[in-house]
Amino acid sequence: MDNFTFYAPTYFAFGKDTENETGKYVKRFGGTKVLIHYGGGSVVRSGLLDRVKASLEAEQIGYVELGGVKPNPRSGLVYEGIDLCRKEGVDFILAVGGGSTIDSAKAIAAGVPYDGDFWDFYQGGIVNEAVPIGTVITISAAGSEGSADSVITKEDGMYKRATTGEALRPKFTIMNPALTQTLPAYQTACGITDIIAHLYERYLTNTKEVECTDRMIEALLLTMVHEGPRVIEDPDNYDARANIMWAGMMAHNNSCGVGRSQDWTSHGIEHELSALYDCAHGAGLAVVMPAVFTYNLKHDVMRFAKIAVRVWGCQMDFEHPERTAKEGIEALRSFLISIGMPKNFAELGAREEDIERLAHTCCYGDVENGTIGGFVPLNQEDVENIYRLML
Ligand code: NZQ
Ligand code: ZN
Repeated sequence: MDNFTFYAPTYFAFGKDTENETGKYVKRFGGTKVLIHYGGGSVVRSGLLDRVKASLEAEQIGYVELGGVKPNPRSGLVYEGIDLCRKEGVDFILAVGGGSTIDSAKAIAAGVPYDGDFWDFYQGGIVNEAVPIGTVITISAAGSEGSADSVITKEDGMYKRATTGEALRPKFTIMNPALTQTLPAYQTACGITDIIAHLYERYLTNTKEVECTDRMIEALLLTMVHEGPRVIEDPDNYDARANIMWAGMMAHNNSCGVGRSQDWTSHGIEHELSALYDCAHGAGLAVVMPAVFTYNLKHDVMRFAKIAVRVWGCQMDFEHPERTAKEGIEALRSFLISIGMPKNFAELGAREEDIERLAHTCCYGDVENGTIGGFVPLNQEDVENIYRLML
């Protein structure tokens, strides 16, 4: 296991009706003037936004609002949010919604105290100073509610890039699984897929002797395999949603990724798809993951065989471990299709003629240096081959 430091000081309030306490938590973490940031309207329709506002009013906390965050959030609204916060003297940002809203809130939070262009942070910068943020999450997926990361798409060039920094970790996160019951089944499935991807990205490591975090990842994956179909079958299953919600946070706050190298190839390859075609991140990952794993299988057959046996219940073929490894990838593929995810380029709305461009942007886009991936370094030709496996 590698040396590491780990500090993840988000305060979590989990359970039914917890959103009614939002105002108390904003006060506790020092907010006196809040920007409420939200998406395309689901929180308005569900009445959540009104409940959150009422809880702020109960604590006499002033607020301004900025809605309209799109999935795969854009830089344009971030600039608007930064201007609004400066004009209104906002000292706390509250994201009410999914990963896109949280990431947009984080970008605004980083941009407000910064003299330059906030996009600098998304070109390899680290965020050391930000307006404090809190979140009320409405979908289990990105894990942004407990992570130090943010992903934004720059409209000029449609680059989808990430930044990180401990200053971006939410001060508090409110997690009421019942709030996810209004999700369309497709979005629920996209979230399940993203959570699974965050676990695989960490499982695929070159670091030896990391049994503790291997086992944590396997446990979270088994939870997703068990609870995913239950919630697709019965969207009102609170307990299944509760288990998925907590697993989604743990999958990405890095508690199971410490002390080991990580991969992130699937995310790099997927981000080009959601940037170009505006597909849901989870749907893109459902198509990308089996292709990436098939391509990288030979790099460490036993690691793929291990996850096949421990998570997907495959029988170990000691004479031909590669068969077991492949069986595990096929089990993952079948699972994702069974919950309603797309299985190939066409179903995702992607086009074969874009492959060269996608692979080029992936490897050379904005700040990249020609290769991606922590498990197996891949160049543009490899990435093109992987996109072709998705046809
Ligand atoms: O915008 P509204 O109207 O709220 O609708 C949203 C949106 O259309 C809807 N939705 C969310 N909660 C709902 C709901 N509809 C009904 N009822 C509810 N309770 O779902 C749609 C998707 O929302 P979005 O926020 O985009 O979903 P998600 O949480 O999957 O976030 C995706 C974004 O997160 C990034 C992705 O790349 C993508 O841009 N990621 C962020 C990460 C991070 N910050 O650590 C890591 C991830 O790997 C990921 O890359
Ligand atoms: Zn993801």
